[in-house]
Amino acid sequence: MVGVNTDIGLELGARVAGALQEALDVRVSPAEALVRPSAAGRGADYQCNAAMSLGKRLGRPPREVAELIVAHLDAADMVEPPEVAGPGFVNFTLRAEWLAARAADLLADPRLGVRPVTEPGRYVVDYSSPNVAKEMHVGHLRSSIIGDAIARMLAFAGHEVIRRNHLGDWGTPFGMLIEHLAEVGAGAGAELSIGDLNGFYQQARKKFDTDPGFAERARLRVVALQSGDEATLALWRGLVAESERHFDKVYDLLGVQLTAADNYGESFYNPMLADTVAELEAKGLTEVSDGAVCVFPPGFTNRDGERLPLIVRKSDGGYMYASTDLAGVRYWTRERGATDLVYVVGTPQAQHFQMVFAASASAGWLDAGHRAVHVNFGSVLGEDGKMLRTRVGGTIKLSDLLTEAVERAHAVVAERSELPGERRGEVAKAVGVGAVKYADLSSDREKDYVFSWDKMLAHEGNTSVYLQYANVRVLALLAKAGVSTVDAPVLVTHNAERALLIKLLQLPAALNSALEGFAPHRLCTYLYETAVAFSSFYENCPILKAESEELRLSRLVLAGLTSRVLSKGLELLGIEAPTKL
Ligand code: ARG
Repeated sequence: MVGVNTDIGLELGARVAGALQEALDVRVSPAEALVRPSAAGRGADYQCNAAMSLGKRLGRPPREVAELIVAHLDAADMVEPPEVAGPGFVNFTLRAEWLAARAADLLADPRLGVRPVTEPGRYVVDYSSPNVAKEMHVGHLRSSIIGDAIARMLAFAGHEVIRRNHLGDWGTPFGMLIEHLAEVGAGAGAELSIGDLNGFYQQARKKFDTDPGFAERARLRVVALQSGDEATLALWRGLVAESERHFDKVYDLLGVQLTAADNYGESFYNPMLADTVAELEAKGLTEVSDGAVCVFPPGFTNRDGERLPLIVRKSDGGYMYASTDLAGVRYWTRERGATDLVYVVGTPQAQHFQMVFAASASAGWLDAGHRAVHVNFGSVLGEDGKMLRTRVGGTIKLSDLLTEAVERAHAVVAERSELPGERRGEVAKAVGVGAVKYADLSSDREKDYVFSWDKMLAHEGNTSVYLQYANVRVLALLAKAGVSTVDAPVLVTHNAERALLIKLLQLPAALNSALEGFAPHRLCTYLYETAVAFSSFYENCPILKAESEELRLSRLVLAGLTSRVLSKGLELLGIEAPTKL
């Protein structure tokens, strides 16, 4: 395990596991050895908590188990002689020489200690997935931001990543949308402009609800669309293309890595729906209920104990949202060799996905080698604690939100910036868009979070602004020292130096933990802690005026590594790290 930096907790865990095997003949994995960074100020770097549960399991006092671990531990190269504390904790202090050697590895490693996974998966990440002819709303904002961060982290970890934008571009609403377009638009072939997608959708809806003639024509359009009528398809394509232009603009502004090549809308699965249902029928998984073909996945019932159906084909032969998702699971696992399907979609769709996954498992499309996970997320709330809305109660348009973010960031940047006015525009975009993304990513995705401009644009606290400024401060320091890259041994002479170095070595652990739970906020917390450790180092350890040339160079190395870790971390979150602010 020596050579390249990796997760220190797991490396020590492997040593503890060895000791347990030797002393007690019990097998635990490195992760089960429960070696974690100690809380700050505890006097140790890492702590092992395994003795408590093992003691119970083996019927021995936990302290005795802890003593045995210490007596049999082969880690003298890594740590000072460990101490047993409290009910049976084992405290580890990393050796200064070991840390210095790891610092040298880190410095030489373009991947900053993150080793590519040994068994890469093929991950298909379904995210953003807005609906055609509708403006994207804040729910799609969360999906886009979280999904993009997850895709970036997976790719950096060494997995193959396929981005998948499951556009809502098919189904009955398209009858009324196309019919409306045919009546108001310039018709197929002409340049369409649906500047206000929401307005367009609402007009169509209103006509549908109030004009029976229109409603009938809209129904005929659905039939025409599904039977492949060329004129109708041409209108449909125009509608989709116009919406895609709108989505692309938002992705561009957001820095989200989705392109037209990643579009696998609902319509993409249309040709596969009949076969999908046929396969479910052939496997005996369907029942006809009120004329509709349904799957009843085991374990799903309503409050009265009645089984819940997943409707795969309606009595009129039409297909549903669930049909498309089932066809999707089948297609990606069977045709495209996906090992992991990740769906970044809001919590309200939790039951839908659980049922789709259960049905897919029954059909044999999901198994030990083909997994699916719903990466759910909560709502964005206004400062009044209710769903985020405009002052007059409307849904907030993403483009308006981002424009406001950039405007506000402009003011934040202007307060401090030494940049000439014309350069402030680009950094305002990095700061403003970064703030919106970071505010979203830094909170536990499963919880709702409160959208607060003041909080997300603050210079202090766990914000992207704080991280971006910390990085710029480091770069300014290196420039002042007249170096851009330094290569020198790292000396550990002060606690703040040591704490910073240990943080810098923990990027692999932070990334592992973020990926394990599809939890980008864990990476955010790590980056924030790193910036805080840097700031304490900066206050406590003179850099340019260090006592010796060796120490000056060593501290410049630590500063340079800090900038690399912060920039890499922000990049993995999809947030820009300007070099000047
Ligand atoms: N278009 C859907 C919506 O806006 C989200 C689609 C999510 N992905 C999926 N495979 N169902 O609610």
